[in-house]
Amino acid sequence: MKRRILFVDDEPKVLGGIRRMLFDMRGEWELLFAESGQRALEIIAEGLVDVIVTDILMPEMDGVELLGRIREEYPSVTRIAMSGQSSAKFSALAALTVHQYLSKPCSVEDLKAVINQAMGRERILDDPALKRMISRVERLPSVPAIYRQLTDELAKPEPSLQAIGVIVSRDVSMCAKLLQLVNSSFFGFARHIESPEQAVTLLGVNVIKSLVLSVHLFAEFEEQKVPGFTLAYLWEHSMRVASLCRLLADVEGFTREERDHAFIAGVLHDVGKLILAVNFVEEYNSCLEIVRNQGGVMWQSERSILGVSHAELGGYLMGLWGLPGPIVEAIAYHHLPLTCPEPNKVLLAVHAANVLDHGLYVFSKRSVVPIMEQQFLERMGVQARVEGWWQAARELMGSTAKDAE
Ligand SMILES: [Fe+2]
Ligand SMILES: [Fe+2]
Repeated sequence: MKRRILFVDDEPKVLGGIRRMLFDMRGEWELLFAESGQRALEIIAEGLVDVIVTDILMPEMDGVELLGRIREEYPSVTRIAMSGQSSAKFSALAALTVHQYLSKPCSVEDLKAVINQAMGRERILDDPALKRMISRVERLPSVPAIYRQLTDELAKPEPSLQAIGVIVSRDVSMCAKLLQLVNSSFFGFARHIESPEQAVTLLGVNVIKSLVLSVHLFAEFEEQKVPGFTLAYLWEHSMRVASLCRLLADVEGFTREERDHAFIAGVLHDVGKLILAVNFVEEYNSCLEIVRNQGGVMWQSERSILGVSHAELGGYLMGLWGLPGPIVEAIAYHHLPLTCPEPNKVLLAVHAANVLDHGLYVFSKRSVVPIMEQQFLERMGVQARVEGWWQAARELMGSTAKDAE
């Protein structure tokens, strides 16, 4: 079935340009065009589209309002903004309604890449109800203490970028959201981002200030709703997995880009747990209870109760937010790497690093230590080196690793 993609711009010349640019895609994509927000809504009412790409500055209904309405009425549609304007005020406004940004004019390659990525994400999750739910997620919960540190720093007469970088890099949600912003070509950045700290430097104090203080890009987490789940604990695990990913990247001779991707994927690999803790409080509590009483691993009890695990949910959302493909796949398949259609080294690093961390840190007497998927290791041709990974991981973790009781 052809994918339906709707372009909205009040300038007919821009729409004509897009039509010509994407002429060779007409076999795969059905291209639709609207010269106003109103017309765009009429087109969607006649038949749902997969992706909408809209200009922001338009008379009557502007792009932010249009995307806001689409988010409410048709949450499954991937929302992409295309704009020539990049003021801090606008980026702050659009940061919550937009999945991805493109700067205008954009190259045909960028346009195709962004739309293709939106399509590629489809194979991660096939439940339409879950997809709709995830598409509405705007923010993820942050550790309250870290959130307050950030607002305190921003309230200073001269906030320090370095301090902001340090604060943000200690929170999974803040990292995810900032990486979403800097990965878009809207800000004119290169698509390759090395780390959360670098994301902060690229955005600058003013943009971060308006994002945090006026748009409330980040939200504090009410921990008491999900007893047994602590953000701080998730963060510690995620940071250790990220450094183990870096270690494996060095041992295995990854390229610089693969190494950076592996680190970011390590930081974000369990981001789906945040989605669950906020949006599926009841179900998530039952999963925690099953593991507490009967043992087993979280992702399996999530699958038995919800049909999917935090891995697919997190991967799907990060794909929607435009994070690079290898990072998205590593997140989505980190517990079941053999099911990944095109496994890559970033996935290998995250899958192995997660097992290494569980192996070196025993969380509770009841918890089951996951094991590396043998068939996957064979497929990647690394099984002979796994012993060496354990050795290197033990050395890296040094005295911090606890012995199993
Ligand atoms: Fe996980
Ligand atoms: Fe994990």
